[in-house]
Formats: sequence, structure tokens, C-alpha cells
Amino acid sequence: MRVLGIESSCDETAVAVYDDAQGLLSHRLHSQIAMHQAYGGVVPELASRDHIRRLLPLVREALAAAASDQSEIDGIAYTAGPGLIGALLVGEGFATGLGLAWNKPTVGIHHLEGHLLAPLLEPDAPAFPFLALLVSGGHTQLVDVVALGEYRILGETLDDAAGEAFDKTAKLLGLPYPGGAALARLAESGRSGRFEFPRPMLDRPGLDFSFSGLKTAALVALRGHAMDESGRADIARGFQEAVVDTLAEKCRRALRATAHARLVIAGGVGANRALRQRLGEMVAGMGVRLYFPRPEFCTDNGAMIALAGAMRLAAGKQRRSGGGARANWELGTD
Ligand code: KG4
Ligand code: ZN
Repeated sequence: MRVLGIESSCDETAVAVYDDAQGLLSHRLHSQIAMHQAYGGVVPELASRDHIRRLLPLVREALAAAASDQSEIDGIAYTAGPGLIGALLVGEGFATGLGLAWNKPTVGIHHLEGHLLAPLLEPDAPAFPFLALLVSGGHTQLVDVVALGEYRILGETLDDAAGEAFDKTAKLLGLPYPGGAALARLAESGRSGRFEFPRPMLDRPGLDFSFSGLKTAALVALRGHAMDESGRADIARGFQEAVVDTLAEKCRRALRATAHARLVIAGGVGANRALRQRLGEMVAGMGVRLYFPRPEFCTDNGAMIALAGAMRLAAGKQRRSGGGARANWELGTD
């Protein structure tokens, strides 16, 4: 089963070819970050128009790099949601058109399912079932992954997602959009303990998160002090430690509650080095194995969509509803 995967849910256009016998054959990505940077965030209409421009050349490149022509492709997978509706419709229209022209089946993939399955692109892939911490720009969820397509949400954020909190705090610190990775770099030179940030929701039971208070705490810290570069680095450090501590503690509770032996970290914030290290230390004494995708497959990519598509087509698990792009779409529903 060889599948062409297309991701266009936000500000990255990404295409990949995955073969379930040979693994990932190629992947290509165009980031729109430079285009949106002038506006301080993603401009949906510009995103849609750029996806239209980029998709066909990227598909040609990915097929050439995979030394694969269209006759060897068994199906086309695309991100059907959640995301920016215009951007999703571009991907869906493109994939559907290609499917008709090539006479191949198409399958709409939930973007977060792609993230959840991304560690399966790695040589040391986790088996089902596992616990997943999904930390992206739009979502923060603890998910009980029973099998392909069987996802139970154990906890989620009540307000900002972890990535969103990184991006908003980065903006306060004067870092350019999207900020999360830049804040993490700044935090590396910061001092631990100078600024104490709250650990939201740790004082009560349950597996939900809340991150919106952290950017306010960062704002208060910034206002209260004359800030030079090292002061801003100290704030970045304190902020990152609060997020990492909170995520790690909720993972520990979820592992205890579910008795899962495998923990998967997925989504853009999964690229964060402090988080990877902290979770590694945490699971060491618990008899739990930790799995991460490589950093470039933590953030948005086409490989995870091609992989999810190959798994779904092989298992005959297309969406029962027949598809259709959806801006809002809860994981685990059809
Ligand atoms: O999964 P993703 O690429 O897109 C969504 O589906 O949302 O996640 C993007 C998010 C952004 O908020 C970005 O700032 C954050 O992941 N991110 C990071 C790092 N790299 C990306 N946050 C913290 N540390 C990083 N190294
Ligand atoms: Zn994503």
C-alpha cells in the first residue's frame, strides 16, 4: 500500500509518499512563516492562496524523490480537519481532483490523528495501545489510543493550548511569530528559579489543563522589572519550566490511572528539548517507555498524513460520514 499524503490545514504545505512495506519514501514541506510574519500571525486567506500555489510543485517533487509515478500510488490521503477551512478546502479539492484523475481512492484524515501516529514513522515504533500527550498550537490533550481510529480523550485544555501559550508569551517577550521554538532557545540561557510561575490545575484532581494564566504571569513579571536580554531569558526559563512541569505531572497521573506501558508525545511542542528530557526522567522509574517522533515530524508534516492514510486504507477504515473538510472536528468522532 503506497499513499500520497497532503497536509494543508494551517501555514505549512506538506506532501509525502509512504509505503507500508518500505516506509517513508519522500517528504517535502513549504513553510509560510516568512509570509505571515509581517502580520504577527496566520492570515487565513493568504494561507489558502499559497497552498494553491505550492501543492502541485510539491507533489511533483515528492513523487520524483520517491522514484514513484502515479501508477504506483494506491491512494491519496489529505488533512480534512480541524484547521483553517479555506486551507483545508484547498487540500481537499486538490486531493479529490487528483483521485478522480488518477482513479485512486482518497481518504480524509483528522490532523490530530496524524500527529498521534507520527511516532510510527520511526524505526522503533510503539505498538497499540498507548497513552498520548498531544501538544500542538491548537490542542493540548491526553488521549487513550486503543487502536487505529479508537481514541478516548482523558483530559484537555480548558483555554489556551500549550503551543498557543508558548506563542503568546513569546510575543510578549518581543520574539517574532510563531515564537514557540524561539522562546525555547531563549530559555536555555535563562536562570531557573528567578521567576516562579504557577503550575495550573495541579492542585486539583483530573487530567485537564489551563495555560491562559501563564501569559498573564509573564506579563506581570515583565512589567515589574526593568528588562534586559538576560531578564527576558529568565522569564522564558520560568515559563517553560512551568509548562513542562505541568505537562509531566498530568502525564504521570494519566499513566497511573490507565496503567499504560507506553507514552507517546506528539505535536509541535513535542519538539521542545526540556519537555523531552523531563518526560524521559519521569518515565525512567515507572517502567514506561517513551516515544517521540523526530522533531521535524512533531510539527506539521505530510508524512504523518500519508502514514495515517496508508493505515486507514489498508484496514478499510475510511470515514463513515463520507468526508468533507471540517474546521472543527473532535478527535475520535467520524
Ligand atoms: O503541531 P504544530 O506544528 O501545529 C499545530 O497543529 O498546531 O504545532 C505548532 C506549535 C506552535 O505553537 C509552536 O510554537 C510550537 O508548536 N512549537 C514549540 C517548539 N517548536 C514548535 N513549542 C515549544 N518548544 C519548541 N521547540
Ligand atoms: Zn499540527
